[in-house]
Amino acid sequence: MSEPTTQPQDAAVDPAPSAPASAVTADPAAVLTDRAAALDSADPLRAVRDRFALVPDEVYLDGNSLGPPTTQVMDRLSDVVGREWGRLGIRSWDGSGWWTAPERIGDRVGALVGAAPGQVVVGDSTSVNVFKALVAAVRMAPDGRDEILVDAATFPTDGYIAESAARMTGCTIRAVAAEEIGAAAGERTAVALVNHVDYRSGRLNDLPSVTAALHAAGALAVWDLCHSAGALPVALDGDGVDLAVGCTYKYLNGGPGSPAYLYVRRDLQPRFDSPLPGWNSHADPFGMAPAYAPADGALRGRVGTPEILSLLALDTALDAWDGVDVADVRAKSLALTDFFLESVTALVPPGRVETVTPLPHAERGSQVSLRCANSGEVMRTLTERGVIGDHRSPDVLRFGFTPLYTRFADALRAARVLADVLEGTP
Ligand SMILES: Cc1ncc(COP(=O)(O)O)c(C=O)c1O
Repeated sequence: MSEPTTQPQDAAVDPAPSAPASAVTADPAAVLTDRAAALDSADPLRAVRDRFALVPDEVYLDGNSLGPPTTQVMDRLSDVVGREWGRLGIRSWDGSGWWTAPERIGDRVGALVGAAPGQVVVGDSTSVNVFKALVAAVRMAPDGRDEILVDAATFPTDGYIAESAARMTGCTIRAVAAEEIGAAAGERTAVALVNHVDYRSGRLNDLPSVTAALHAAGALAVWDLCHSAGALPVALDGDGVDLAVGCTYKYLNGGPGSPAYLYVRRDLQPRFDSPLPGWNSHADPFGMAPAYAPADGALRGRVGTPEILSLLALDTALDAWDGVDVADVRAKSLALTDFFLESVTALVPPGRVETVTPLPHAERGSQVSLRCANSGEVMRTLTERGVIGDHRSPDVLRFGFTPLYTRFADALRAARVLADVLEGTP
């Protein structure tokens, strides 16, 4: 097994400051503790942590799976339930802005993924949005294109849904490694579905160049942003992405099961033919016409009645982004993951873990995945000791680094506890 190394890979991002030469012979844990303190006090995002309701004395490194609540969400939900629902009842669809919440909150999510207003709607799960996006993309593709490419390492639901979408549209499906998808697209390719960040390894795929290669081959690009939105800059409009989907319960902290989103690029919207044309996407939903006529714009991506409670919990969670620059988030994310890897290298007994996440910054999302024997048991013990990450079968420990609330001291504590656990585990 190779040891993790932490060479700074990207000159554009300031890496964690290194130890002074005089400290090289000092106790590595003490040196790392001093560095963590210095990095935390210089962190431009340090005050944003106070916007989250975190468990004291716990290091929460699972925001890449389920983000924690913000401090405001209880009050908002209490108002939504008590006043908007409890007192105003049905009047809240208009009076409290419930009916238009999917587009309004969609625009807020859009601002975090480089989408100008009017192109994102929030609703349904990511799985359902993958289905809408893929079938609609095949319906938009020129005649003769009957192949769907799917990222071979994809999160399983995307692969299952793509397979079903292919059967329903008379397409074949081909699994290709994400980095080869652009080159693999040919004259029969209608669309490719690619994960921006791989959920298991944390690898960041090259969205601009894969999208450009797909377009050069005449195919459409659908991106799954579950592990990138809120963790790093995404430029959907700038990079000419056709369609995109993502969840809101990870780095956007919407809460368990909070609704997902669908991006449909503005110029494609008139051709977006939804395979789930529910009444919420009708041009005149309250006309109750027997015939379907699609609304204009992104709200063609809506289906049925919006999930108001979780949608409004998400609305409040997005307030945590007020005044936050995503470029600062990315710089801190890379510095945190570098620092964690460096701490693991310094503290964990040699040969006990292997880094799965790519080391070059340009290929790294906002998590660190470590391959490790008995990873399920190791993660259970870490959790008992207050370090919360997760485990992906068969042998991967995942640690998500969420710059809005994770401190360098947390990264160091996680590495320390991991070292202790591995010292005591066969
Ligand atoms: C990359 C990716 N896509 C899709 C999903 C599934 O999303 P949903 O359960 O909202 O359908 C997940 C869930 O973790 C995911 O990580």
